[in-house]
Amino acid sequence: MKLDKNYWEERYLENKLGWDIGYVSTPIKTYVDQLDDTSLKILIPGAGRGYEARYLHENGFKETYVVDIASQPLRHIGEVCPDFPPEHLLENDYFKIEEKEFDLILEQTFFCALAPRLRPQYVKKMYELLKPGGILVGLLFDFPLSDSGPPFGGSAEEYHELFRDSFTIQKLERAHNSIPPRQGKELFFIFEK
Ligand SMILES: C[S@@+](CC[C@H](N)C(=O)[O-])C[C@H]1O[C@@H](n2cnc3c(N)ncnc32)[C@H](O)[C@@H]1O
Repeated sequence: MKLDKNYWEERYLENKLGWDIGYVSTPIKTYVDQLDDTSLKILIPGAGRGYEARYLHENGFKETYVVDIASQPLRHIGEVCPDFPPEHLLENDYFKIEEKEFDLILEQTFFCALAPRLRPQYVKKMYELLKPGGILVGLLFDFPLSDSGPPFGGSAEEYHELFRDSFTIQKLERAHNSIPPRQGKELFFIFEK
């Protein structure tokens, strides 16, 4: 199966959106709620319908960007949040975006949506996108990696191994405030460039 633009557009067209919880997830909301600096330049890759991006925008984080390879979720964000800057809705492949110098990148069900062979490239791209000292924060699934996906799983050990050469692992632990269907199945992390 090729996880390309066509694949994702088709999922949106058929409304097969098992990942779409319909609201900002509790761990991300909790993290955002303790941020003071609304001038942070923030990216949400593979943002889907962008509940987290919209929450940030509504709370004054006007330098929030999203990237998604599919056009439909970005159109949706523009419709439900008309004052979200259209130039911050990047319809592109994450691996090709040129906007840089992010202070913060929020990960949620994007890493797990990519073919596992792309994981080293994901790390390299995150490193390029962040400012020195920039932070990658979010959630990674904690269930065994297999061929059946997306979502593709992984473990704390694997993620440690993958990120430790480029990032300082400040936190990588079982999330305590996951949404009910994901309880016990995800890790909350903070990695610093
Ligand atoms: C599993 S969904 C998660 C959406 C969102 N993060 C959420 O939690 O609701 C994965 C998203 O990543 C997007 N995507 C997949 N591959 C991508 C790529 N290479 N570059 C940018 N977006 C991509 C898909 O179109 C889809 O919207």
